[in-house]
Amino acid sequence: MKLFVYHAPEQTPADQIPDCAVVIDVLRATTTIATALHYGAEAVQVFSDIDELLAVSADWPAENRIRAGERGGQAVPGCDLGNSPLDYRSQSAVAGKRLFMSTTNGTRALQRVQSAPLVVTAAQINRQAAVDFLLAKEPETVWLLGSGWQGAYALEDTVCAGAIADALPEMTPGNDEAVAAVSLWQQWQASLLTLFQQASHGQRLLRLQGDADLTYCAQSDQLDVLPIQTSPGVLIANPA
Ligand code: MLT
Repeated sequence: MKLFVYHAPEQTPADQIPDCAVVIDVLRATTTIATALHYGAEAVQVFSDIDELLAVSADWPAENRIRAGERGGQAVPGCDLGNSPLDYRSQSAVAGKRLFMSTTNGTRALQRVQSAPLVVTAAQINRQAAVDFLLAKEPETVWLLGSGWQGAYALEDTVCAGAIADALPEMTPGNDEAVAAVSLWQQWQASLLTLFQQASHGQRLLRLQGDADLTYCAQSDQLDVLPIQTSPGVLIANPA
């Protein structure tokens, strides 16, 4: 298994696609996706464009849908909810519903790799589920794709990529970023919340009173669910 880490979709090689892409947006899109599917959401469908989200979701029964929109860390007017994973942490809120979702970076990262044969999402909260999936499938090439922030590096996504890579004894690093990600994880694994509080997007969320979100997102291996793409842009809980 050759494993490449990319900090943001803009940094991936334009003419390539891996056998398996693991999309990571710890703060907060892939934490929210895992949480919603864990609590019984039927599926999560992602969009880069809010207008497209509103148009497509209009054909869905209102009682069976949640429109989730986030820009700059804040909920988008006209959507039902924003991107706080805490809002999706109950069966009464999400069970049986489809989440129509658009976020600043995470949903764009998913779109970059949506043509890969295997696409899953990971965050700290379901890291072990992603590790188990990679160990079982043994894809030849894997991209751990951070969502970053508008093309730039994000500490929280890279440390999660390192946490996954470090648990794969048979992997060969495909780029220097993979080696660096493992070092970042080894340095910070016992104090992830402190790291997230220093991260630029962590600080943005703290300014928006997102303390509880950071605490939730910094937990490791709390959910067994693995979101997996079944058609471009649509993710369900991996039935395997
Ligand atoms: C994103 O996609 O950039 C995020 O998940 C932002 C957030 O809601 O914290």
